[in-house]
Amino acid sequence: EQIKKGNYEHYMQKEIHEQPESLRTTMRGRLICGDSSKAKSVLLGGLKDHLRTIRRSRRIVFIGCGTSYNAALAARPFLEELSGVPVTMELASDLLDRQGPIYREDTAVFVSQSGETADTLLALQYATENGALCVGITNTVGSAIARNTHCGVHINAGCEIGVASTKAYTSQIAVMAMMALAIGDDTTSSQARREAVIDGLFDLPNKVREALKLDNEMKDLAKLLMDEQSLLMFGRGYNYATALEGALKVKEVALMHSEGILAGEMKHGPLALVDETLPIIVIATHDTCFSKQQSVIQQLHARKGRLIVMCSKGAAQLVGPSGSCRVIEVPQVEDCLQPVINIVPLQLLAYHLTVLRGYNVDQPRNLAKSVTTQ
Ligand code: G6P
Repeated sequence: EQIKKGNYEHYMQKEIHEQPESLRTTMRGRLICGDSSKAKSVLLGGLKDHLRTIRRSRRIVFIGCGTSYNAALAARPFLEELSGVPVTMELASDLLDRQGPIYREDTAVFVSQSGETADTLLALQYATENGALCVGITNTVGSAIARNTHCGVHINAGCEIGVASTKAYTSQIAVMAMMALAIGDDTTSSQARREAVIDGLFDLPNKVREALKLDNEMKDLAKLLMDEQSLLMFGRGYNYATALEGALKVKEVALMHSEGILAGEMKHGPLALVDETLPIIVIATHDTCFSKQQSVIQQLHARKGRLIVMCSKGAAQLVGPSGSCRVIEVPQVEDCLQPVINIVPLQLLAYHLTVLRGYNVDQPRNLAKSVTTQ
């Protein structure tokens, strides 16, 4: 077992640090460089015969559980932007509870690392019965979801052993960004944007490697936070998912209460919790929501909130007067890919919190890697 972990203490730690490589494998052979005669593009063999149908769908519905759901949420804004098709989100269990409407004209996208999660699989049966085009995004070749969908994409992140999903999350986002690029491939108006994102994908593994250098800083932060009862994370736009996923990591492995909050909902409840003691991580990297996040930070400051702000490298002075809060500076990438970078320090934080609090990193109590019963 130690051989499989290499130089790492835990699988989760290994899988976090493997992300530059796993992302590279996810994208291998799928990004086409282009030249003077041909534009840069994306090739997803498992989807290419279905792109026309997907473009013409009435809706694209993402369906998943846990981290896989969060990955789809991170990818949603870019898919909406490039496809022009409404994109809705469903937690598999909730879709089943409601028996929510799924139509023949829908494309239902099933996101699952294992490809075996019971609720996601049952939702797939349900969507198939309702006549939707079913697309699978899984990490497991030959899994039930891979076998029972009409078409799909393997994320090729390599085997993930830690119960808390890390490298599968970033690879899922990369695949869904590529899927958006493939779907939007027929519009010339978005070509410059698509090429910028493709360049961003090429460079993403290097930027993730840079983000991993925050390891010691996150360990220090974990020392500061290890005895806390609760930790809030505020995000919005592309990084609402980052807040949810960061909080999920802290909850599932460090066994600390943590909640991801949509910053736009701050005044509708969460603000009542703010005081000098409760630590709050605010994700405020550079994108079109940045000025709104600056205003959230100001309002939290005004209530003496204990803030830790994640911002783009070199932008610390834009998120508050120096010394007013702790800052985590991350490399900046194309806005729709930023969730891949921003989750890295939060994964590291969750990992170090778990070790410091003395809990089982790879097999948190009561949880399973693959939930195959309802
Ligand atoms: C379990 C795992 C999570 C995972 C979720 C969905 O809860 O502990 O890490 O995100 O199932 O699993 P899936 O294999 O469908 O992505």
